[in-house]
Order: sequence, then structure tokens, then C-alpha cells
Amino acid sequence: MTTDAKVRVAMNVNGRAVSAEVEPRTLLIHFLRENLNLTGPHIGCDTSHCGACTVDLDGRSVKSCTVFAVQAEGGQVLTIEGMAAADGALHPLQAAFHEHHGLQCGFCTPGMVMSAIDLVKNFPDPSEEQIREQLDGNLCRCTGYHNIVKAIKAASQSARS
Ligand code: FES
Ligand code: FES
Repeated sequence: MTTDAKVRVAMNVNGRAVSAEVEPRTLLIHFLRENLNLTGPHIGCDTSHCGACTVDLDGRSVKSCTVFAVQAEGGQVLTIEGMAAADGALHPLQAAFHEHHGLQCGFCTPGMVMSAIDLVKNFPDPSEEQIREQLDGNLCRCTGYHNIVKAIKAASQSARS
């Protein structure tokens, strides 16, 4: 067997069963973008520090550039494309980012939202410090994080009420 022999990988992405033949070294981010044409998760670095590629894998936020596609075999993956309801209604986190001007360039935003969903799930009433700590692995290169933090705070409040 050569090292680039392809293997079949199958998982559920945004509620849909998907499978494809990939090289074992294929990263989850490349599988999502190139095999499934899900271009919401971005590649913003080659050192695993920007967070633009963040998706939800089995209920946890992960940087999809740090996971091989084969490691997600059988898993449940949620990307930004799967966040809105079937009728197009925005997820409360997306709505809060919109309402509180938590997005500027849009490049980092999908990763910010997918990282925030983990926080909101685990901390119903996160402090500003907890939010900033969660966003530690997500870089915004164009501005400050104030509105992003405000949006996540507002989304967690609306999730509680
Ligand atoms: S592309 Fe994954 S952390 Fe930057
Ligand atoms: S808002 Fe995305 S990099 Fe600044």
C-alpha cells in the first residue's frame, strides 16, 4: 500500500450523511471545503492558531485544521452552514452577532460563532472573562473583540430566557 492510498471516510455533516475517498493525511478542513464545498470554515493560518477553521465535532469546538478527516469518521460535524434553521431563521448566536455588530470582515466570524456555541452550551451565564478566555484561540486581525464579546453575552442571555 502506498502512503497516498485513499480511504473511505463517512460522517454526518450538518445533519446529512456524507462520505468520500480521501488520502489518510486529508485534514477535516480540507474535507469540508474541498469535498463538501462547505466554505464557511476558513483557513487563516498554517500554524493552528487563528481559529478561522473552527467547527463543532461531537459537541465540542475543534480547529478542523488540527483533525484528520479520518479522525472524524462516524462523527457528527456542525459547520456554520448548519447553524440556521431549515426555514433560514438565524441561530440565536448568529442573530446576536448581527444585532451587536460582532462581525466585520466575515473571515473569522464562522470560527468565532462555532467556538462560542461551545461556551454558551457549557456556561449558561458566561462572564466577560470566560468569553475572552474561550476566544483565546480565535483571532480577529482587523479590530477589537468588544462587539464579539457583547454578542456572545447577549446570546447566552437570550438562551437562558
Ligand atoms: S486555519 Fe485552523 S487555526 Fe488557523
Ligand atoms: S472581524 Fe474577522 S478578522 Fe476581524
